[in-house]
Amino acid sequence: MFGTGVTIITTRSGDGTLRGLTANSFNSVSLSPALILWSLARTSSSYEAFAQATHYTINVLAADQLQLAQRFATRGIDRWAGVAHEAGAGGAPVLPGSAAVFECAHRAVHEAGDHVIFIGEVLACSHTPDTPPLLFHGGQFYTELPLAPAVTDPLA
Ligand SMILES: Cc1cc2nc3c(=O)[nH]c(=O)nc-3n(C[C@H](O)[C@H](O)[C@H](O)COP(=O)(O)O)c2cc1C
Repeated sequence: MFGTGVTIITTRSGDGTLRGLTANSFNSVSLSPALILWSLARTSSSYEAFAQATHYTINVLAADQLQLAQRFATRGIDRWAGVAHEAGAGGAPVLPGSAAVFECAHRAVHEAGDHVIFIGEVLACSHTPDTPPLLFHGGQFYTELPLAPAVTDPLA
């Protein structure tokens, strides 16, 4: 019942293999320095790649990237087939069209039960204005529905 955004977190292994998974555990930690966190299941097929990674990219998804979110949460497929991407910091893939992008350097890892918590330092970030977000709540995907009317200009 905790509504979140949705990200795809990506990295590039030493042998050049691209890895990525859909994750909603992303959150902000610190402003100075700029730190973020996310958690990864130990059982994930991406675990070894991220445990070794020096850099990763947090791609915050837009509503029209729903199919990418589903694809990067599916086991046993080539998640990268036909997916456009550019190299971000450390070669970690950036997904064009994302609502926001955080290019991160690995800083710390904390063991936490059946997950590990990664803390990354934001080296670069960008966003696409006026992009409807992809949201996740109660096991379903959504996009935004404003609760208040847009602010009107009193001088207009
Ligand atoms: C909305 C959503 C959020 C998810 N968040 C996480 C997460 O924060 N951490 C995690 O390890 N897996 C998360 N998953 C599952 C991963 O996407 C996972 O990679 C997927 O189940 C496939 O397993 P694999 O990583 O072993 O290939 C999430 C899945 C969905 C659909």
